[in-house]
Amino acid sequence: MELKPAVLAVAVLCLALPRVALSQKKALAGGPAPAPAPAPRHVDLAELLSLAGPYGAFLGYLTKTGVIATLQSQANSTDGQGVTVFAPEDSAFAAIDGAALSNLTADQLRTLMLCHGMPRYYPLSSFSALAASSPVATFAGGPQQYGVNVTDAAGTIRVESGWATAKLVSSVYSTPPVAVYALNRVLLPEQIFPTAPKVAPVPAPAPAPEPVHPDKANDGAAAHGSTDAKSVSCRVGAGRLLAILATMMATSVLMI
Ligand SMILES: *[C@@H]1O[C@H](CO)[C@@H](O)[C@H](O)[C@H]1NC(C)=O
Ligand SMILES: *[C@@H]1O[C@H](CO)[C@@H](O)[C@H](O)[C@H]1NC(C)=O
Ligand SMILES: *[C@@H]1O[C@H](CO)[C@@H](O)[C@H](O)[C@H]1NC(C)=O
Repeated sequence: MELKPAVLAVAVLCLALPRVALSQKKALAGGPAPAPAPAPRHVDLAELLSLAGPYGAFLGYLTKTGVIATLQSQANSTDGQGVTVFAPEDSAFAAIDGAALSNLTADQLRTLMLCHGMPRYYPLSSFSALAASSPVATFAGGPQQYGVNVTDAAGTIRVESGWATAKLVSSVYSTPPVAVYALNRVLLPEQIFPTAPKVAPVPAPAPAPEPVHPDKANDGAAAHGSTDAKSVSCRVGAGRLLAILATMMATSVLMI
């Protein structure tokens, strides 16, 4: 299972974060600004998806079909093209009639996953141009075969593929050469689903997420949002770790 390393990674991150935050505070209080940390050279997509949020189902399918390696090798590639991943949230997978996915052959499932990636880095600012030049090729095939249609209606970006019209709900990560965007729907190309699979209606989102638009939210700000989410969950994690440590210390005092 991938779970243990992921939990460990979160724990390490949580232990590291307060120190980072502290040193940043110190720097603000005075003294020379520290040299900016070098930009991360390597993005581990599996790690990003497992730490960033509700993409466990998607990551599970990417791993099962081997598509994670296809996406990662494009992310690693130095050809300057980059990679864009459309990550349906867990609720998107939960909304699909289970049989629709379990009925697929291994090849079909792999192709379906490949439809959720593009062998180019597309920042949010490029989506209105993408809408104009749709359909756009995916890893599964060219625009006419396995392309997706991008639409941009007054800042609401949607990705259409066959039976599905997915809304781009947030930017999970966007720093060249890797972009990961969250979708509220799984893409359902007609080549894979000859008839429309049963899909539950999208539940009304709790607090409306910030509309994503290049004019209003630049890529950096959007990526920053996901960092906040991560640090929130880390704070919770760190709290739990401290509680466990406190319990262990109390126990050892009792034992002395
Ligand atoms: C991507 O690069 C990392 C770090 O260099 C390496 O560990 C990993 O195996 C590479 N993955 C693929 C699929 O090329
Ligand atoms: C799954 O396959 C079974 C047997 O072939 C079929 O009866 C059923 O309609 C399929 N379900 C879906 C949702 O495609
Ligand atoms: C994209 O839009 C065109 C024109 O509306 C349509 O014919 C095509 O089927 C759409 N492609 C997908 C993948 O939804």
